[in-house]
Amino acid sequence: MDSIGEGRNLEMSRIPVIAGNWKMHLTGESSGALAQAVADHHGGETGRKCLVFPASVHLGSVGSVLAGTGVSLGAQDCHEAAEGAFTGEISAPMLKDMGVKVVLAGHSERRHVFGEEDSRIAAKAAAILGSGLDLMLCVGETLEERENDRTFEVLDRQLAALNSFSPEEGPRIAVAYEPVWAIGTGQTATPETAQAAHAHCRAAVAGILGDEVSASMPLLYGGSVNPSNAGELLSQPDVDGALVGGASLTIENFGPILDAARNA
Ligand code: 13P
Repeated sequence: MDSIGEGRNLEMSRIPVIAGNWKMHLTGESSGALAQAVADHHGGETGRKCLVFPASVHLGSVGSVLAGTGVSLGAQDCHEAAEGAFTGEISAPMLKDMGVKVVLAGHSERRHVFGEEDSRIAAKAAAILGSGLDLMLCVGETLEERENDRTFEVLDRQLAALNSFSPEEGPRIAVAYEPVWAIGTGQTATPETAQAAHAHCRAAVAGILGDEVSASMPLLYGGSVNPSNAGELLSQPDVDGALVGGASLTIENFGPILDAARNA
């Protein structure tokens, strides 16, 4: 149970995945302590998958804490090249070498704060899978796009990053639907809104990678998930997990979200 893809088949499919994206938060010491608390709380349960995405400088120390605990180590981003003169960047093979199992591509902050375009995200996604790592592709519309009724069109465009992959690679891919207007705002999508977007994503993935891959692909919701709303979101038929930002930074908040996955 080391990664989102490992051991997955149609019967085992869509075990709830609870992931904490720690973004640019915590220190070496506090990230290690939080990782230990998450591992203790998770307790190696097999009915859910648990992942954390620490800042890249903390991957080594957090990875040491997580070894053998059943909590998987994820990275928040990578460069699309395997190596080269790219000062400050980190490649997918370097992440693999650190013990990382899963890498995010296309997080809304990469798209909207750092200006990453779909073509760049597709290249990163290819680098991640090509290095033998699992991919969590993040997609989601802005408030303006939603208000202009363009949500599904935007999701289709962003999911096209999967076009170059084969169905065999499907079990190493998860998609996180994170509406930009819900991230860090406290304005969570309603369960109905999340379900509608997830159902659309699942149908779009079926069109790209086939029905079998789509039926077993974990689709996570992200955007102001907290202990009070996690249960209802996770109970939606196409919501298979949560990608949690702010509420993943303390075990007091993340623990109950992990527990909500038990009943999902
Ligand atoms: P928040 O849970 O803080 O809204 O962040 C969501 C997110 O961006 C996770 O990747």
